[in-house]
Amino acid sequence: MSEGNDLTGFLITHHLIRRVVPELGSRLGHVGAGDAAAVERLTQWWHIFTEILEGHHAGEDRFVWPVALAADPGLIDIAQELESQHGRLDGHLEAIDEGLRTLAKGPADWDAELTALLARIDGFDAMMRDHLELEETRMVPVLERDVSEQTFKALSGQLARNHSMDSFRRDLPMVLEMADPNARAAMIERIPAAVRKDFVESWEPQYRQLVAALPGS
Ligand SMILES: [Fe+2]
Ligand SMILES: [Fe+2]
Repeated sequence: MSEGNDLTGFLITHHLIRRVVPELGSRLGHVGAGDAAAVERLTQWWHIFTEILEGHHAGEDRFVWPVALAADPGLIDIAQELESQHGRLDGHLEAIDEGLRTLAKGPADWDAELTALLARIDGFDAMMRDHLELEETRMVPVLERDVSEQTFKALSGQLARNHSMDSFRRDLPMVLEMADPNARAAMIERIPAAVRKDFVESWEPQYRQLVAALPGS
């Protein structure tokens, strides 16, 4: 038994989810009617987020919940509920994608399509917040307190190996964009030294360029 496994990487992603979903809605409010190019830039940015989210969910179901369950088998119902919520959240993501594709075509009934999409985003946001809260109240304390340091280290290694260098390059600038400075420093420290320079000099500036071109920036 150990005290205080470090869940920085896991919780940083939760902060990101809480921030980015409403941000999509507020940025859509800055798109001029029929501005397909702005919708496409926003979709490009949103898809960085959905890739991060899908990786986070897959990592939880495949690697994280089994470790929590081994430490506390009584969490089986929670693990099953979270996994089924992941499936339902995927359905919401598909509906949001469809709404973005519709807007990118510059529909005649722009206002109605935008209103419908904003409602979908709000619904997704509400469900996502409940989902994160369930994980943080039931799974996180077990992962922090009841999993041995050695098992937790092995889990962190599995999660890291589950990311390709391409996904790392695409995802990390957004993950660290608004992270708390200490969490950011800890995560940058974990980037392999060979590519840390690429992150600072290339990956992050490219991402920031995309963000600067988004509606509402
Ligand atoms: Fe989850
Ligand atoms: Fe999560």
